[in-house]
Formats: sequence, structure tokens, C-alpha cells
Amino acid sequence: MNSPTGKTQFYCQNCGNHTVKWMGKCPACGEWNTLVEEKIQKVKTQGFGDISRIQESSRPVLLNEIEEIDQIRIPTQDHELNRVLGGGIVSGSLVLIGGEPGIGKSTLMLQLAISLARHKIFYVSGEESLQQIKLRASRINQEQNASEHCYIYVETNLNSILEEIEKHLPSLVIIDSIQTIWSPVIESSPGSISQVRECTSLLLRLAKAKNIPIFIIGHITKDGSIAGPKVLEHMVDTVLQFEGDRHYHYRLLRTLKNRFGSTSELGIYQMQGEGLRQVPNPSEILLSPRDESLSGISISVIMEGARVLLLESQALVSHSAYGTPQRSSIGFDHRRMSMLLAVLEKKCGFKLGLQDVFLNITGGIRVEDPAIDLGLVVSILSSLLDTPVSSKYCFTGEVGLSGEIRSVSRVEQRISEAGKLGLEKIFIPKSSSPAKIDKKSNLQIIELSKLEDLVKRVFDLEGIG
Ligand code: TYD
Ligand code: MG
Repeated sequence: MNSPTGKTQFYCQNCGNHTVKWMGKCPACGEWNTLVEEKIQKVKTQGFGDISRIQESSRPVLLNEIEEIDQIRIPTQDHELNRVLGGGIVSGSLVLIGGEPGIGKSTLMLQLAISLARHKIFYVSGEESLQQIKLRASRINQEQNASEHCYIYVETNLNSILEEIEKHLPSLVIIDSIQTIWSPVIESSPGSISQVRECTSLLLRLAKAKNIPIFIIGHITKDGSIAGPKVLEHMVDTVLQFEGDRHYHYRLLRTLKNRFGSTSELGIYQMQGEGLRQVPNPSEILLSPRDESLSGISISVIMEGARVLLLESQALVSHSAYGTPQRSSIGFDHRRMSMLLAVLEKKCGFKLGLQDVFLNITGGIRVEDPAIDLGLVVSILSSLLDTPVSSKYCFTGEVGLSGEIRSVSRVEQRISEAGKLGLEKIFIPKSSSPAKIDKKSNLQIIELSKLEDLVKRVFDLEGIG
């Protein structure tokens, strides 16, 4: 939108849309109370006037004539990070790491900086003092490797940052965080949409011109009240999201966008006293040894991106003391739980209408894979009937509205993971019967086509009602 210099515009802090007058609700994303007034100014190109000359002059080229160049990647010691980046850090790429404050973004990046020995690293912090960063480094306890190559630079003025980067030409730059950095050509305060956007576009140009990979940390809050990551997603090459429940130790690093790899990747870490630890085999940690006599617990085999996870779900079904039964679920969609209960009632005759039902996915993980349905149904029935289910059984399958058990993706991968963990039986949908079976494990595969089969095979009941 063209507006004369000196005028103001209203920017949505959630989606970055701008309007000329204030509105209570953003017309683009529909969020309330997110418009904030900011001054508009003509931005002078500065500092990187010669970048356009570095880039090849543009002309139309035949697709066949374009030379294929292998991406140069810096492999890191962090295999989880390598995985989500598609196999190491691509030179000249701009990576955005978003996450809620306190989730561990600074820790992850400092660990990366320290571990990349033999590469000159620039860790620019606008959030913490040198002492604080030093303290964190000693906590991470890799400090001894870091003395020769890792520079910490506490600065928020983007011009100084760009100058230093140009002078030292490091192999990797980390900006912690984009909301604290400001460019003097923009009048609005750090963290505002125009600042965040301008700083990112200058960093992007630097990354491309000098072929230096840059990681940008951006805070997100649940209600999106801090400007930033969302409006930057289209500018950067890769968007990673660091998430997890602060009360649990697991942290998930997800790829939301990646120009150099797949977006279905997932990295798993555990936050410990001395920093983040990579978790190569999450199921071993998510499944705890348990008392075989407990009812209401079962193991589900789910996919998170391209990884198989085995995790426990717990249910408590008890007679409701009040008129309206309580329904609560942690880690699983509330409405889907109601649907499962309705299907159980209608198709198998279990009277759940007057029961309180509480569901919990252990480990603080939020599951979106519908294949968890079958395991949840088993936990609910196990609690309702007070019948324990063996800890050597696992379940995967989506439950449909007619009580049919619907197929799941990558069933072979799920079976093989369950086999590796020494389980004895896996219950899968009949419709996703595996083409070839790994003969090495003792895992017995049981195919089910409807919920009645499950009730019969697991609880030895012919159905009630
Ligand atoms: P931090 O990296 O500062 O989060 P962010 O940059 O995303 O805001 O991580 C902060 C939390 O991590 C803090 O609550 C303390 C915890 N922590 C550990 O448990 N162990 C550690 O070794 C470190 C460095 C932090
Ligand atoms: Mg931080």
C-alpha cells in the first residue's frame, strides 16, 4: 500500500496484515484486538547496496540448462537437528526457530554453537548479558570446546550486527531473538511488525550474498500476542517449531516449512539439568514398566511426522456423581473423545452416557494421528470393565462413525517398531494388512475390521446390550 512518509498504519500482530484505520478485528485473520499503530517510512537501501551486483544478472534460462549443484551442508553433531533440517545446515539458508518463551530455544542454539568446533560461530544475543550466556554455557558443560570458535556478541542494533558479520565472516550466525533486534531506519520499537520484517529481510540478503547460514530465534505466545514468527514464515527458507509442555521434559522440534527437505520430520529432545539431550529412541522412554494388574492403560502406535512413537494412554471411567457427566482429555481432541464414546455406546452397547470419562496421553505429547483411536477405546473399555490389558499388547487404527476400524498409514513401519520393542501382539485394521512381514520378531499381528472384533479379541466379550 502506498502511503506518504510520516503517516501511520495499523498492523495485525498476529498475521501481519495492515489497514489504514484501526479496527477491533483483523479483517484478514479474524483475531480481535491485534491491530497496533506503526509509523510508515520509506526505507532507504543501505549497507548492502552492492548485493544486487553479487547476484547474477537475471534473464530467462531454459530449465534443462540450469546446472544442478549439490547443496553444501554443515553436518552437526545433533542428529535430531540434522534430521529436521533435512541433513545438516544448508549454507546461505535462513532458518527461523519459533517457540514459546522458556521452552529452550536459546539452550538449543547455544549447544549447537558450542558443538560446531572448527567453524567460526557468531551468537548474537539481544536478550541476555555475556555473564548469563557464560553461565548457561557452563551448565551445558561443553564450554571447554567453545573457547576458540564461538563468539558471543551482545548487541541489538542491526547495523552494528551486520557490520561485524561482514568483518568476521563467520560460518554460522545465530540471532537470539528477532524481537529484540532493531534497525535504525525504522522508527517503531523493536518487536513491532515493521522492525521484525525489515531486520529479517536484511539478514536474508546478507545470508544469500555471503552464503552464511543464519538461525533466527522468534518467540511465539499461545495467543500470538507477540509480533513475529508468523509474518516471517514466507521470507525464510526453513521454519522450525520448538514445542513441548514445560512441565514435562520432552521437547519436540518440528519442521513446518523446509525448502531443502521434508516437512514431516520431527526431532525429540529431553531437557535436563545440563542442557538438551537427544532422544534417538523415544518409545523406550515413553513406555514405562508397569504393573500388569492396572486397568485403564494401553499402548498405542502412532506416527509423528515420519517417526513411529509408542505411547501409553490412560483412561478413568467412573460413575458420575452429578447429573452431567464430566469429560476431560489431555493430549487428545475433546470432540473426538466424545465421538469415540458415542460410537462405543451405539455400536457395542456400553452405557457410557452416565459415566465421567477422563483421558490422558502420557508424556505430555499432543497426538493428532487418528490411529490412536483404537488404543484410546481399549483404555476406556479396560477402565469401564476394570479389566487390565497386557503391557505386551499394542494398538493402532482409526475408529469410524459406524464402528469400523479404518486403515492407517505406514503399517509396516509401525509393526516393525513394535516388534523391535519386544511387544507380543499388535492389533491393526484389516484394511491395512501389511504386504510383507518381518519374520524376525515374535510379534503376532491381529487384524480387526470393526469394534465388536476388538471387544471380542481383547476383552473376550460378545458385546453388551
Ligand atoms: P531457554 O533456552 O532460556 O528458553 P528460551 O530461549 O526458549 O526462552 O530455556 C529456559 C529453560 O530451560 C529454563 O526454564 C531452564 C531450563 N534449562 C534446563 O532445565 N537445563 C539447562 O541446562 C538449561 C540451560 C536450561
Ligand atoms: Mg532465550
